Amino acid sequence: MPGFVHCVERVAHSGVSAYNRNIQNLPDRAPCTSKHNNKASHMTLLQLINERVEAALAAAGAPDAPAVVQPASKAEFGDYQANGVMGAAKKLKMNPRELAAKVIEQLDLEGIASKVEIAGPGFINIHIDPQWLATRSLAALGDAHLGIAMPERRKVMVEYSSVNLAKEMHVGHLRSTIIGDVLARVHEFLGQDVTRANHVGDWGTQFGMLTAYLMESRNDGDAALALNDLEEFYRKAKVRFDESPEFADLAREYVVKLQGGDAEVLALWRQFVDVSLDHCHQVYDTLGVSLTREHVKGESSYNDDLPVVVKDLDTLGLLKEDDGARVVFLEEFRTQEDKPMGVIIQKKDGGYLYTTTDLGAIRYRHRVLGLDRVIYVVDARQSQHFQQLFQIARMAGFAPQQMVLEHVPFGTMLGDDGRPFKTRSGGTVKLIELLHEAKERAYALVNEKNPDLAEQDKQAVARAVGIGAVKYADLSKNRTSDYVFSWDSMLSFEGNTAPYLQYAYTRVQSVFRKAGDYRADAPVIITEPAEKQLAMALAQFEDVLLNVAETSQPHHLCQYLYHIATLFSRFYEACPILKSEGEVRASRLQLSALTARTLSTGLGLLGIEVLDAM
Ligand code: ARG
Repeated sequence: MPGFVHCVERVAHSGVSAYNRNIQNLPDRAPCTSKHNNKASHMTLLQLINERVEAALAAAGAPDAPAVVQPASKAEFGDYQANGVMGAAKKLKMNPRELAAKVIEQLDLEGIASKVEIAGPGFINIHIDPQWLATRSLAALGDAHLGIAMPERRKVMVEYSSVNLAKEMHVGHLRSTIIGDVLARVHEFLGQDVTRANHVGDWGTQFGMLTAYLMESRNDGDAALALNDLEEFYRKAKVRFDESPEFADLAREYVVKLQGGDAEVLALWRQFVDVSLDHCHQVYDTLGVSLTREHVKGESSYNDDLPVVVKDLDTLGLLKEDDGARVVFLEEFRTQEDKPMGVIIQKKDGGYLYTTTDLGAIRYRHRVLGLDRVIYVVDARQSQHFQQLFQIARMAGFAPQQMVLEHVPFGTMLGDDGRPFKTRSGGTVKLIELLHEAKERAYALVNEKNPDLAEQDKQAVARAVGIGAVKYADLSKNRTSDYVFSWDSMLSFEGNTAPYLQYAYTRVQSVFRKAGDYRADAPVIITEPAEKQLAMALAQFEDVLLNVAETSQPHHLCQYLYHIATLFSRFYEACPILKSEGEVRASRLQLSALTARTLSTGLGLLGIEVLDAM
């Protein structure tokens, strides 16, 4: 089995109790010395089977026919099924079952599959050899990276959260922040060169109003106090703007001063932005999101590039004059009158727009950062903006063809009533308040289920479960659809929820607490069906992660972890661990260890904490 380095290591933990040593050393062993397997020759199990079936198809007279290998849809179909034979036979005008028989004759899965058979009209069912799985499991256990090899390293940017700093973070910011963070973590785990970007909205006319109001409240007394509640601050500034023409004029004047780099107005602006960013980072910390101040690169930072963007577009002859504004017309996008749609780059008054800034950002991301792939995790309602943006960026040469630009859209978070999530009185829900409520609800649950737990532990469980539940409820849904936010279902200990998975993890950990001695290099022996199913699923972790990285769909990882937890439960019931003896006991502990590490790694990639007990 090329590509997997087997290394067993023991870490000495001086001063740690024997109890802790078991927990710390075993299922979640510290990294061993083997480096990531960076070999280009490494293939995942799915890729390997796919390649072998394709080679067999070619040898059977169907060169270039895709093998279409997938995990089997039902257990009786084995572990994998190749569905490509029917298509290939049709092209060759052959009987598909005959072609399937020829393919099987040519198919080399020596040491990998224990049985290969034809099914139905010409499917090929592949049963993975338990011995192969045993070796694979042991190799994964011996590797800090669970035997997962790195695909080719590329420069990937994940742009997420990207809130507008004019207001406090509300539930509308939750999805981008949570989903983006998972994508960044998964790419990183897969060895990619990841840049996180928080493209915050910190520029534009609103900030003229806000800085003008900050100036006023400073003159009136305590500005810091006024900024305490950003929502309030924004609301009051808006009232002033609407009621007083003088104030409105001042606000407009401040916009011009901001853009012109006036030191005093800039200082006020910076003060506002700072306070607002502090709020954001308080939310990120509570959420356990990996964004730091270093990842913030706001719209304002492209201010100086905007005239250059306009100039470049103009030089290429892409700009047209339309009612005083400078516009790019796109043939592919049609207006209601079936005319090419215009995207405004510069307004009549000289001001720039959202798209202009985004063009500046793309230009920077190519020229300065040299990125290979940029992933924008932004609400589905901005889909058209991104389609147009990407097209203009290509036309202008700001992004070369090989630079992948992807909008990763998501739907809206809804309340019980099926309408966008709001407070009872219809206001927007502040994110920090929602997260506090999550922890309170989780605390009440722990208190009820486990009243004897120490207070400190209760708090830790409440945090892990409360925040985990909010994140998991979001991540486990297909992101493209809207989803209903429900405390009861997300905090349930049954079904596909964070508490269920966290609990499953503690169950595995409790096995180790009771087991005492454990041999990290014990061979894995697979005889029972429940052992095989668990080992098979564990061997698919790598393919699942690659799929998440490719499709930007974290729910595949959630589904997978839920599957693992379910299979572990079955294994636990069917195959006694602690009551068995010798090699069997040691092997079952190994499968349990791999389960624990897969669950904790997977949940870690989802940004969800695991606990040894709850
Ligand atoms: N700040 C924007 C908003 O709240 C989202 C920014 C998304 N990213 C981008 N590059 N346009 O709507």
